[in-house]
Amino acid sequence: MYAAITLFVFMCLAATTHADHHQPCHAPNMTGFMSVLALKGELKAYGAFTYDSMGKKLRFRSNESHPVNTSMGLDLLMFFDEGIFYEIDSKNQSCEKKTLQCSQHPLDIPDDATFMSTANGGSPSIEGEGLKVNVWTGSMADLKGHYSMSVTMGCLPVWTFYFHESSSFFVSLTEVELEIKDPDLLVVPSFCLAQPLEETPEGTVNSFLNEFM
Ligand SMILES: *[C@@H]1O[C@H](CO)[C@@H](O)[C@H](O)[C@H]1NC(C)=O
Ligand SMILES: *[C@@H]1O[C@H](CO)[C@@H](O)[C@H](O)[C@H]1NC(C)=O
Ligand SMILES: *[C@@H]1O[C@H](CO)[C@@H](O)[C@H](O)[C@H]1NC(C)=O
Ligand SMILES: *[C@@H]1O[C@H](CO)[C@@H](O)[C@H](O)[C@H]1NC(C)=O
Repeated sequence: MYAAITLFVFMCLAATTHADHHQPCHAPNMTGFMSVLALKGELKAYGAFTYDSMGKKLRFRSNESHPVNTSMGLDLLMFFDEGIFYEIDSKNQSCEKKTLQCSQHPLDIPDDATFMSTANGGSPSIEGEGLKVNVWTGSMADLKGHYSMSVTMGCLPVWTFYFHESSSFFVSLTEVELEIKDPDLLVVPSFCLAQPLEETPEGTVNSFLNEFM
């Protein structure tokens, strides 16, 4: 069991370097909205995100007042380089600090992704009516599925499908702006600072996507 988990984590972190002329690009700093839809039909979460592409930090807060029954209350602050994240509950000023076993997330194309195609949504010949995207694919970190990620020519992620044996998701990003509007959102709240790192139960893998499974 332990060996299997170790392998899993290794697969997740190891980035193979392809000598392909198509290298995955990396998204810039961004602020925008993200929705996560389970392919069975439920909207899992909708809310604002803030992303620091250099520091590899992500904040995502779901909006519970968005009129969908099944959406979850989530407030996540993830530090992909450090491999830790916080689940924050601002209402009662509490938080949990956990280890990230997998750094895959829908705002950045994994380094080992494979270029699939360029596609034109809408009409490429009518100005303002088209959206040209590059589509990248690859395996899910646990190899039990794959993803398909579409980004604009400037590397802004538009949508990602995650096809997984246990659950599949569609993530879309909208109203993206190329700046971090509120840098404080990427700072650990004071009430989380003294939080000890929780032990990850054996067999558990924490990742952005696992928060929705
Ligand atoms: C992205 O945001 C970080 C944190 O605010 C900042 O240090 C960095 O310079 C920004 N990068 C760009 C390209 O603006
Ligand atoms: C949540 O959504 C409601 C309704 O769309 C909006 O008025 C409110 O500002 C949003 N809250 C946050 C924190 O984004
Ligand atoms: C939302 O959930 C409540 C209770 O779980 C249920 O009674 C209600 O019909 C649901 N509303 C919608 C729009 O699905
Ligand atoms: C904060 O509230 C959540 C549910 O809203 C609960 O699960 C958690 O235990 C609470 N934490 C504290 C420290 O009260």
